[in-house]
This record gives sequence, C-alpha cells and structure tokens, in this order.
Amino acid sequence: MGPAVEPTAAAGAGEVLLGKYKLGRLLGRGSFAKVHQARRLADNTDVAIKVMDKTRATITTMEPNIIREVSAMRRLRHPNIVRIHEVMATKSKIYLVMEYARGGELLSKILRVGRLTEPVTCRYFQQVVSALHFCHNNGIAHRDIKPQNLLLDHDGNLKVSDFGLSALPEQLKDGLLRTACGTPAYTALEVIGRKAYDGAKADAWSCGVILYVFLAGFLPFDDGNLALMYRKTQRREFRFPPWFSKPVRWVISRLLDPNPETRISIEALMSVAWFKKSPNRSKEYVDPFQLDLMTMLP
Ligand code: ADE
Repeated sequence: MGPAVEPTAAAGAGEVLLGKYKLGRLLGRGSFAKVHQARRLADNTDVAIKVMDKTRATITTMEPNIIREVSAMRRLRHPNIVRIHEVMATKSKIYLVMEYARGGELLSKILRVGRLTEPVTCRYFQQVVSALHFCHNNGIAHRDIKPQNLLLDHDGNLKVSDFGLSALPEQLKDGLLRTACGTPAYTALEVIGRKAYDGAKADAWSCGVILYVFLAGFLPFDDGNLALMYRKTQRREFRFPPWFSKPVRWVISRLLDPNPETRISIEALMSVAWFKKSPNRSKEYVDPFQLDLMTMLP
C-alpha cells in the first residue's frame, strides 16, 4: 500500500486534493465504495479512484474483498482489464487508484441504445472472453461478470473491472470454490446451489447471460421475485427473441448449459466459428513474460 493521505481542500478552489491527485466527479456508487474520476497533478493524467469507507462496512465483510481486488488486479496486465496503479489508505478509508475508462459502463450504453447489433456484440464479447481467458490462465475467476462491471475506454475498447468478488488461486484449494457470490441474474446454477463449483465454468455461464443481454437489451431470466428468478434459472425458462441468429443461439445454449461439466469452456468457445468471425477483433494479447523469455534466448 502507498503512504497514508488525508484529503485536503485545495486553496481557494473548493477542490479536494488526495495526495498527488485532484478528486473530480462521482462516476458510480456501490454498497461499500464510491468511484470518482481524478487527475494526477504531475502529468494531468485522468485516473479513477475507488474510495472505500472502512466505517460503512465491518472489517470482516470488507477487508477480504479489498485484498482480493487488489491482488487480482495487480497480477492481471491485459488490454481488456482495468489496471490498478496504486493503493493508498487513511485510518477510515482505502483508495484504489485505477486506470480511467472514459466511456463508462457498457450497461449505460446498452440502456441508451436499447440493444446492440450482432457485429458490435461480437466485438465486445471477444474482448470480455479474452480478458476472462487471461484471468483463468492465471488461476483467477472473476465471479461477478455483468454489464455494470464492463467499462469502455476512449477508443471504445472494453475493460473488465471490479475484481472484489474474484477468487485467487490460493483460495481454490482443490480447484473448486464454495462461496455463493455474484449478482443473482448473472449467477450460475451451481453457484446458487452452494455446491462446490469451478469458478471458470461459473464465469462461462455469466458470459452466456451477458451475450443474451447485449443482443436482447433484457435479461434471459428475470423476475421481481428472487425465488421465482432462481426457479426460472433452474428450469432454464428463457426464449430467444426472433432477431437472434442461429449461431448465437447455439453459443448461448452451450454457455447456459446447467451442467458445468458439459458447459462449453471459455477456451473451447474461442475456437467457435461465430466467435472468430468478427473483423473487428482486438489485437491478440501477448503476455510480456513471453516477450522477456524471447529476449533471453541466445
Ligand atoms: N467506474 C468504476 N470504475 C471505473 C473506472 N476505472 N473508470 C471509469 N469509470 C469507472
């Protein structure tokens, strides 16, 4: 963690300074945290600062989430994952300084335009899947994939954020998880059922839900009553709107397979023709570690 900082009012301007950052507008608010846009004074770079109030949560419910979030984000360097720059703390608050995704939440975009076209969906979906594939290869499951946690940068590229519920390799004792978490409408059946589950396959289920939401503009399993929503999920009660293409229906059905063992994996999904077809595909990511190895070769 970085040095302790106390927010101070900047002389005359009514602006709040936070160490070397000037705090800007509120971008979003969660149960334990607020996210602000901020500016790094040294080079005028925009950042996002997640402010977590220790007094709002008990240490037991909040600290593990922060530790998970920071550890996961520090390990993951990928063009479609929000970078963490630094962590600062005071007695009552923790500040996560992150890359600023100027385009905001993908959910706002979907709500604004109603639903996404198939080529646009395919491009965003490839970017989420590429990020998740990278997480899983590093032993990390996200566990809370939903359009609210998918941000857009200034170029319209997607960035996965909010690793507060992620599972780290050291927590995966036998490779299976036991904590029920995530957001109900996007959560896999086996997670709801509190059985031991495979985090990567649970993320694959959530990918099925977001793919449906991108194209439909509404959820596949939805009900104001949580118990009824779970029942719909359990019975797989959903319909494809008529504009869904045949290949997309197939991909969604394979991701929303109730049996995690037969559900398509993220790895296998990447070789499906529909997934590979978009000309807009972002550049393939090369792990810098691999590059380092190359330069060490004689
Ligand atoms: N909302 C939450 N995190 C954000 C980020 N890193 N950039 C922009 N908006 C956000």
